[in-house]
Amino acid sequence: MAGRSLKVVILAAGQGTRMKSDLPKVLHPVAGRPILGYVVDAARALGPERTSVVVGYQADRVLAYLAEGFPGLAFASALQVPQKGTGHALLVAREAIGGEEADLLLLYGDTPLVKSETLTALLDHHRSSKAAATILAAVVADPSGYGRIIRDEATGTISHIVEDRDATPAQRAVREVNCGIYCFRVPDIFPLLDQLTADNRQEEFYLVDIVSLILRQGGLVTTLTAVDPEEVEGVNSRVQLARAEARKRGDILTELMRSGVTVVDPASTFVDWGVEVGRDTILEPGAILRGRTKIGAGCVIGPWSHLDGAIIADDCRVWASVVEDSAIRPGASVGPFSRIRPGTTLEAGVQVGNFAEVKNSTIGARTKIHHHSYIGDADVGPDVNIGAGTVVVNYDGLKKHRTHIGQGAFIGCNSNLIAPIKIGDGAYTAAGTTVTADVPPGHLAVGRARQSNLDGWVERRRSGTVSAEAAQAAKGTDQGRTGKREHSGGEG
Ligand code: UD1
Ligand code: CA
Repeated sequence: MAGRSLKVVILAAGQGTRMKSDLPKVLHPVAGRPILGYVVDAARALGPERTSVVVGYQADRVLAYLAEGFPGLAFASALQVPQKGTGHALLVAREAIGGEEADLLLLYGDTPLVKSETLTALLDHHRSSKAAATILAAVVADPSGYGRIIRDEATGTISHIVEDRDATPAQRAVREVNCGIYCFRVPDIFPLLDQLTADNRQEEFYLVDIVSLILRQGGLVTTLTAVDPEEVEGVNSRVQLARAEARKRGDILTELMRSGVTVVDPASTFVDWGVEVGRDTILEPGAILRGRTKIGAGCVIGPWSHLDGAIIADDCRVWASVVEDSAIRPGASVGPFSRIRPGTTLEAGVQVGNFAEVKNSTIGARTKIHHHSYIGDADVGPDVNIGAGTVVVNYDGLKKHRTHIGQGAFIGCNSNLIAPIKIGDGAYTAAGTTVTADVPPGHLAVGRARQSNLDGWVERRRSGTVSAEAAQAAKGTDQGRTGKREHSGGEG
C-alpha cells in the first residue's frame, strides 16, 4: 500500500470562538509565525501530492497568509460558509481533494507543535494496518476540551469518540483523547460523511462520528498513541496559545544551542521562528529576536536588546538597544540605550551608543556617534566623529530632507544640521553651531552668537545670593583675575 499517493487536508475555517479575538485562530502567531504555518510545514514534509486547506471565517485573510507564507505552493482551497463542524468541513473539501484512490491525512489547523515524524508514523501505521481510518490518540493529564476515545471493554478497540460537551461524567474521566489528526482512504470516506448528523449539543457535524459509521459498516478503525502528548495539543484559548509559545520557544532555543549559540538564560530569551544566529554568538538575558533577524558569528546580543528585522554581521555587539529593519556590518557596536530605526546601515566598526538614535541613514565605517544624538535621513561618510548632542534637523514640518556628511568630518557637540545640507570631507562644525549652509571640505563652520561677559553683574543684580557671595570671595584670587578675560565665540 506504500505506493498509494497522499493527499493532505487542513481544516482552518473556524473562527476560534474561545480565543475571543477578531483574528482567525489559525493566524494567531506562535514565536512570530501563524499557527497554520507550522501545520502546513509538518504536513508538507510528507511530500503529499496535493494539500487542501478548508477556509471559512475571514477566508481572504487566511488565504492571503498562505500565499505570502508559502510562495509558489499551490493549495487547493475549499470554502466552508457557514462552518457547521469538522465533518462538514471535510465534506466541503471533497472536490478540492479529488476522488481518486489515495490516502488522506487530515489535520486541524490549530496544532502548531505537531512534528512531521509523528505524522509519518501515523501514515505508516495506517498503511500497514490497512484500516479505513487511523486516529492519532494521546494520553494526557488534563483531557478537558478534547474528544475522548471510548474503547470496547471486551476487546479494547476503539468504539467511538465522544466530545467533551456531550460526554457523561464517566466518559469525562477518560484521559485518552483524540488529537484531531487522522488518516483515511479517500474514496471510502465520503459516502460515510454524507451520513453524519448534527445530533449533539453543538448542533455540528462532527468528523469524529465517522468512527461509529465505519465500524457499523464492518470497516477497521485503529489508533496510534502519540509519544509526546504536548506535541499534539490544540490551541483553543489564549492560555493554550501561551503554552504553545513557550514550547516552541524552547525548541527554537534548543536548536540554536545545538548549533553553537550560547543562550545564557533561555527563560528570558525570545527568538522567533526563522531567525538565524551564527556560531559563538552569545545571547545574553533579555535578548528578543524577531521577524527576519539574521545574526552572524561571534556577536554579543544583550543583555536587554530588541531586534526586529536586523541583519547583523559577524563580531557585532548590541547592548540594551533596539534595532529595527536595519543592517549592521562586521565589528560595529550599538548601545547601551540606543535605537537603530528602519532603513539604516551601520558600516564596519561603527560605534553608536549612549542614547543615540539613527533612522534611515547610512553611517560610514568607523564613524562614532557616541552620545545623545539624532541622525535621521543622513548619509555619513567613514571616520566621522559626531559630537554629543548633535541633531540632524531632517523635518521642516512638511517634508523630510537628506543630510550628507563627508568622510573624516568632525561635528562639534550640540550642532544642529538643518537639512538639506552638505558637510564636506574633513570639515568641522563648531560646538553649538546651527548649520544652515553647506560647509566646504576642510572648512570650520561657526554659527553661534558671540559671548560677552558683563563684569560685576551678579553682585549688582543678585546681591545676597550664594552666587553673589561666591563672586565676592573670588575677587582678588587667580580665578577673579582670569575671569575678566573676554571670551570669543570662535574656537569651538
Ligand atoms: C476537535 C475534535 C476533538 C479533538 C480536538 C483535538 C471534533 C468534533 N472534535 O475539537 O475530538 O479532541 O479537536 O484538538 O472534531 N473547523 C473548521 N470548520 C468547522 C469547525 C472547525 O474548519 O466547521 C476547524 C477549525 O478551524 C480548527 C479545527 O477544525 O482548526 C478544529 O476545530 P475546533 O473547534 O478547535 O475543535 P475542538 O473543539 O478542539
Ligand atoms: Ca481545537
